Amino acid sequence: MNIIEARHLIKRFGPFTAVDDVSFAVAAGEFFALLGPNGAGKTTTIRMIYGFSPLSAGELAIFGLDIGADWRRIRSRLGVCQQENTLDPDLTVAQNLLIYSRYFEMKPAVARGRAEELLEFFALTGRRGAKVMELSGGLAKRLQLARALMAEPELLILDEPTTGLDPQSRHQVWDRLLALKKRGLTVVLTTHYMDEAEHLCDRLVIMDHGRIIAEGRPRELITRHAAESVIEIEGPGEELKGYIREHQVEHDDLGERIIIYAEPRGELERQIRERFCVASCRFRAGNLEDVFLRLTGRGLRE
Ligand SMILES: Nc1ncnc2c1ncn2[C@@H]1O[C@H](COP(=O)(O)OP(=O)(O)O)[C@@H](O)[C@H]1O
Ligand SMILES: [Mg+2]
Repeated sequence: MNIIEARHLIKRFGPFTAVDDVSFAVAAGEFFALLGPNGAGKTTTIRMIYGFSPLSAGELAIFGLDIGADWRRIRSRLGVCQQENTLDPDLTVAQNLLIYSRYFEMKPAVARGRAEELLEFFALTGRRGAKVMELSGGLAKRLQLARALMAEPELLILDEPTTGLDPQSRHQVWDRLLALKKRGLTVVLTTHYMDEAEHLCDRLVIMDHGRIIAEGRPRELITRHAAESVIEIEGPGEELKGYIREHQVEHDDLGERIIIYAEPRGELERQIRERFCVASCRFRAGNLEDVFLRLTGRGLRE
């Protein structure tokens, strides 16, 4: 049985369709990402999953239970970490965890034990008495994650867990999430960071304008829509352009720069290296950012 089964989800706000016929499934133990630019419909989709936003149409089952009929039973098995800081600023770190446990009717002794474990796991023990107001963005996010895990959820839902964090905090959050993954927790996260999805996720969908435009494992998507190997050439000359045409080389011409999609260590790569890399050439592995830009275009968004 899948943990999430979403079929033809639609969410309308008046005449505007924010989520437009989205279907996907998440299996137990999977790390699944909704990746997409701002406004793609990621938050709206996961708000339907955690029951904060009724569907306009479609079917949604979590743990095999219908989101409409069984919301209460589903809710007690979910952990949610919203994008904005939803901690209580006047309470301490530890109090935020304990207060939250009351919603789940946890026994106080159990809640205290669980809070201690989570403070330890998120390296917050030293800050247990600090007021939330005093925490940096990274610490606050770790506390929010800890809180989402208080009631030992079977599914953790994270909306942009690292947006706005500095690189150290971001990597700390990633490490903790990877540790949770090892324990077999099912996680759905949204992000607009391609590297985050690539680093953390087993599988992802790319959303744009309320629709899913690609789905797969990161490596599959990279080979399908970009390439394992990418060559970027600044100031491409006519000779190179002729070669690209003649050999029908997969590429994007950005004017000042040409991006070539190639097999790693293949003949094309060798030819380019030997014949056309007089000025500036960069050889690198293909990544999800290439996939994303190829699918959604390079133009600026609103
Ligand atoms: N409550 C709402 N009322 C009207 N429009 C909304 C509402 N919530 C989201 N939207 C719109 O739906 C679109 C998708 O938003 P959202 O799901 O927040 O995108 P993302 O999380 O991918 O950035 C956006 O254009 C946003 O303005
Ligand atoms: Mg969002």
